Amino acid sequence: MKNQIKHRILPFMVFLFLINQSIVLAQKVTDPKYAFIQNERLGRGINILSADPIWRDPLKARMNSDHFRLIKEAGFGNVRIAINPFGFALNQTDFTIDPTFFIALDWAIQQALNNKLMAIIDFHAHIAMQEKPLKKKAMFLAMWKQIGDRYKGFPSDVLFEICNEPNMDPAIWNEIHSEAYAILRKSNPSRTLLLGTINGNQILHLKDLILPENDKNIIVAIHYYSPIQFTHQGAPWSKKNKDLSGISWTNTKSAEEVIKKDFDLADAWSKKNMLPITLGEFGAYEKAEESSRIRWTDYVARQAEARNWSWSYWQFDSDFIVYDINKEEWVLPILGALIPKQYKPSR
Ligand code: GLC
Repeated sequence: MKNQIKHRILPFMVFLFLINQSIVLAQKVTDPKYAFIQNERLGRGINILSADPIWRDPLKARMNSDHFRLIKEAGFGNVRIAINPFGFALNQTDFTIDPTFFIALDWAIQQALNNKLMAIIDFHAHIAMQEKPLKKKAMFLAMWKQIGDRYKGFPSDVLFEICNEPNMDPAIWNEIHSEAYAILRKSNPSRTLLLGTINGNQILHLKDLILPENDKNIIVAIHYYSPIQFTHQGAPWSKKNKDLSGISWTNTKSAEEVIKKDFDLADAWSKKNMLPITLGEFGAYEKAEESSRIRWTDYVARQAEARNWSWSYWQFDSDFIVYDINKEEWVLPILGALIPKQYKPSR
């Protein structure tokens, strides 16, 4: 008898618990501060998979499940997964995304969740988008529809970032992101969305962003690579800076003031618009001298944290690395600049 009661009561208790959980979640989402809570949970993070062969052939992946564990154990809270589904359209009518692409993305999201890392799905097709943004719009929207539908049942730890570095006219960007927003809000009414500014997610373009109305479940994404002559010296893809070398960065008062002033501008915008900020990318390319890279990385990360922004370092593997995947070890000076308790680099 006792057992029978147990059997009847238990499912009912589970049912009540689930209802309670969904009420808690619904309350949270309607809380105007919800995106700030999400942003705090994002905390410190790393960009991953931008150049990994996993997308074409999962068997050739450079990242494996251990790396997600290592990222978590090092003290990070988020991974920003760079996706570029443009090369995976099976046709030019409804732009169906090749299932191979989703093998990799499903895996990466699951790895993040298994390791209690929040996952930002970052649509990283800016190079293709910037050429003829309006021509690419149909494919961009059709792909977001598929991605939104696929992950709509996923936990709130998965966030969508509409477009990395939308390098286009502000009016065109405002048109494109508002259409993507409408599509995503249909399938994902309570998912936190990230929305960035034009021309490399620049702070000075925050003023050009036309925001979705009455929606506070948005985090605004900026990037920081300034001074660009320092962070991109010797970078082959950076036309103006590829031939530069020997530029250092020291914590002089005036160098710090420049960063503080830029960040204060973004912070004032954030307060005025009541939306949180994430610093979705920052880093200094390997050609710059190491001690300068450490000083700059540490200073930028701490300044972001002083303003309660979340951040994602550019990037885990490939270039600007914080993890040497060939040697299977952290690049300790950079890791220590990002997460000071891990390592004390000499500055
Ligand atoms: C850019 C891009 C990324 C690039 C990096 C360094 O802003 O988002 O694809 O590799 O920053 O230049």
